[in-house]
Amino acid sequence: MYDGDIASVLITEQEISDKVTELAKQVADDHPEGDSDLVLITVLKGAVMFMADLARALPVPVQLEFMAVSSYGSSTSSSGVVRILKDLDRDIADRNVVIVEDIIDSGLTLSWLLKNLQSRRPRSLEVCTLLRKPDAVKVEVPVKYVGFDIPNEFVVGYGLDYAERYRDLPYIGTLDPKVYSS
Ligand code: PRP
Ligand code: MN
Ligand code: MG
Repeated sequence: MYDGDIASVLITEQEISDKVTELAKQVADDHPEGDSDLVLITVLKGAVMFMADLARALPVPVQLEFMAVSSYGSSTSSSGVVRILKDLDRDIADRNVVIVEDIIDSGLTLSWLLKNLQSRRPRSLEVCTLLRKPDAVKVEVPVKYVGFDIPNEFVVGYGLDYAERYRDLPYIGTLDPKVYSS
């Protein structure tokens, strides 16, 4: 599949699976089954694979919410100004909430999202991201659960896309530069 487009495998399917188990344990330790279920909020579309695996690895009941956002400004760099295309279906007031992200790059989207969700008065609000690029960060966001810190390279797979492709790869890899230039 995608013959020759992937330059190298950065994180294997097994490594992802092990990390999901580890992160699920951390989240569950902090959120034992209580009077109301934990709410996982996913921002479409990159984080859907991670959310699906994390939700099934968590030994506590969770409810799933989805948001779709689009950032204003140039298409190559996010401006941090965000428009909501699809909002949550439910109120999160007084709920324990974990935002599930596939990757934190500049941190701009997440920074906006945290402010937006915080204003809805959840009981708690944390972030769980599979990947983070420390060298690309433009705005520091408090992130409680991080899977892997990775170099500032373009990565695809396990939900992450280039021009909407490669999300379906079961591992995370770097893209061959020939893909950008063709
Ligand atoms: C990607 C990724 C994160 C965000 C991180 O989403 O899935 O949500 O960018 O970037 P930032 O830290 O610089 O804000 P994208 O906007 O590509 O949409 P997608 O999830 O549908 O691929
Ligand atoms: Mn995304
Ligand atoms: Mg994308």
